[in-house]
Amino acid sequence: MNETIHYGDHMYKIVKNEQLSKNEYDFWIEAPRIATKAQPGQFVILRINEIGERIPLTIADADPSSGLIRLIFQVIGKTTAELSSLCANDSILDLTGPLGTPTEIKNYGTVMIVGGGVGIAAIFPIIKGLKQAGNRVITILGAKTSELVILQKECQQYSDELIITTDDGSLGMKGLVTEAMEQVIAKESIDCSWAIGPSMMMKFCTMTAENHKLPIYVSLNPIMIDGTGMCGGCRVTIDGSIKFACVDGPEFKGTQVNWDEFISRMKQYTDEEEASLTDYQKAQVIHHG
Ligand code: NAD
Ligand code: FES
Repeated sequence: MNETIHYGDHMYKIVKNEQLSKNEYDFWIEAPRIATKAQPGQFVILRINEIGERIPLTIADADPSSGLIRLIFQVIGKTTAELSSLCANDSILDLTGPLGTPTEIKNYGTVMIVGGGVGIAAIFPIIKGLKQAGNRVITILGAKTSELVILQKECQQYSDELIITTDDGSLGMKGLVTEAMEQVIAKESIDCSWAIGPSMMMKFCTMTAENHKLPIYVSLNPIMIDGTGMCGGCRVTIDGSIKFACVDGPEFKGTQVNWDEFISRMKQYTDEEEASLTDYQKAQVIHHG
């Protein structure tokens, strides 16, 4: 293949990159216009180079004064693997955003905010925004094991109470985020809640909240292509109607999501993602010897 892939001469420069765990990466990228406008709950769609696919990533943080945005991602398919191989001073060709309807940030009273695994990155701006709006913030962060609990310090800074759960008990409470939710609901009067993480987690968080008649918002991350409501790739069923996660969401009331449909559509591309990652990794081995 003779295609030339350009890195380094475009405008979205990676200023800092850090590997958070075996498969999770934390990038700060120069994108001054996006950094100025980004609100909690919004995302960008990026394309690494001319032949790259477009992938959506939630804006984990934004600093208008330095013009930087923060993207935290897990390596799942070829594109995220390729992105993880970029270094500081490399650049990304396209970065479109901020996209999506922002979270409604206001003073609800006491809020419970649940982040699971890499979904913690997506929930962090919501924690920050709701704290800055004067809410009492109770945060629950859950991950398989202690190394996968990301942004603990940042979330702590904007939380009145922080509960950590790990599946293996290596940090905080041993168990799932839903068990911590039950404990919080038993002792606090909560006015509103949010949950972001794997689809199964969001489905079960919704069931827990619903059992206690507690409003809950979730953020859906279906496959996205254009991010502007044109292609229909991100369609989800909300309260019986078709919605586009990229423009109508990504945040929706958890109780209105058709979870079975969403979860089965999310599984549709798992094999392709794995195959593209394996092919990419094989190509890297051949290329680098
Ligand atoms: P994970 O599988 O390690 O789960 C994180 C935590 O979620 C667990 O520790 C547990 O506490 C909770 N959880 C999982 N399943 C549960 C269940 N059935 N009931 C109750 N709690 C449950 O997380 P991970 O591997 O980091 O997650 C990656 C997934 O998150 C990917 O599928 C990715 O698509 C998704 N994600 C979603 C968003 C979003 O915007 N919705 C953002 C980033 C990542
Ligand atoms: Fe195309 Fe949402 S990504 S309609």
